[in-house]
Amino acid sequence: MKPYIVAIFNQKGGISKTTTSTNLAVCLAAHGKSVVVIDLDSQGDSTKSLGIDPNVRQGIYDLFIGAAKLEDVILPTRFEGLRVIPSTYSLAGIEIKLSELKDSQRTLSTIVSHASIDCDYIIIDCPPALGILPINALATADAVIIPVTATPYANDGLLRTLPSIKYVQEGLNKALLLQGVLFTIHDRHKAARKISDLIRARLGGTVYGAEIPRDNMVIEAAASRLPVCVYAPKSAAAQAHLDFTVEFLERHHKIAAKAGQELAPFPARPAAMDRLQGWRVELADHLAAPEQGGLAQQTSRLDRMLYGDRTTVERLHLALIHFFIDHRGVLAVFLALVALVGLMVIGAGVGGVRLLADAFGLS
Ligand SMILES: Nc1ncnc2c1ncn2[C@@H]1O[C@H](COP(=O)(O)OP(=O)(O)OP(=O)(O)O)[C@@H](O)[C@H]1O
Ligand SMILES: [Mg+2]
Repeated sequence: MKPYIVAIFNQKGGISKTTTSTNLAVCLAAHGKSVVVIDLDSQGDSTKSLGIDPNVRQGIYDLFIGAAKLEDVILPTRFEGLRVIPSTYSLAGIEIKLSELKDSQRTLSTIVSHASIDCDYIIIDCPPALGILPINALATADAVIIPVTATPYANDGLLRTLPSIKYVQEGLNKALLLQGVLFTIHDRHKAARKISDLIRARLGGTVYGAEIPRDNMVIEAAASRLPVCVYAPKSAAAQAHLDFTVEFLERHHKIAAKAGQELAPFPARPAAMDRLQGWRVELADHLAAPEQGGLAQQTSRLDRMLYGDRTTVERLHLALIHFFIDHRGVLAVFLALVALVGLMVIGAGVGGVRLLADAFGLS
């Protein structure tokens, strides 16, 4: 059967699009589904969160420009049933490349339909802001999910996101369905509750019952390059993501039933939880040594970017400059000392000239 394609989209940045994409994907895999994540963000966050290095040779960019076939770019993850079409850093230049193509807003849709990806679900992690990539995602998807954070700017994000969805529904993809709005990074304080109540009142049943709470485990999980549902399956955020996945599956089943399709039933929540915990146990070694190698690698990459292939003297010179930028007080004392030594040298020079003049009877 054709996969159900879901775009995770909000024009606003940093509201958990990637966290939602990767956790939904891993929870669907834990429910025994076959899932492919398409990372459409040149930041490569979902690629990284699923344990894949965005320095891989080929990714979605190469599919877009026709330089690779699907089987060359689709990668397995550590989680059975879950694969990724990764983002590579070259994706940042895709806007220019696509602008040269005809029908550039439908490029992804053409790729996906021609490649006939064999899976149950495709989850597309969109970049923030509206550009050619999110438009391609919305033109390809059967459904869109909007993650929202209950802050005073949440409405702004929704007000900019909903018209983009409508624009696509009116032209590029008339079948696109808003599957739901999901509250993420949710705080329990009164102000957040007021905002979420207001949005719930306006959007009604579109908003999922599950709310993903703010939970530091999500940040720890990201540092270990794992979705929180595997890193800490019992954490509050992981439990909420699992609840959301069950709700997502139920909604999908209802949508399919309306269209006259019958989907295979999915296992009960505890079975999915067992699977997540099993993956957690399999990755125990990886979790025992979180990111030491990765951090060291990142630091040396940063060093190379900062210092390139300069000589040792040039590196020391740059390091000294950076030291003084960070320690301005030391710089002030250093400059005062230089000035003092300078004055002493000038004084000694003047005294020496006088002595010489005396010696030659010129004074
Ligand atoms: N429930 C949560 N609790 C605490 N922190 C969270 C939660 N969800 C996400 N975060 C953190 O918030 C930050 C933004 O999350 P994420 O990268 O998923 O957002 P995004 O919308 O994909 O961002 P971008 O627009 O840059 O792509 C990350 O540091 C992530 O670890
Ligand atoms: Mg993201």
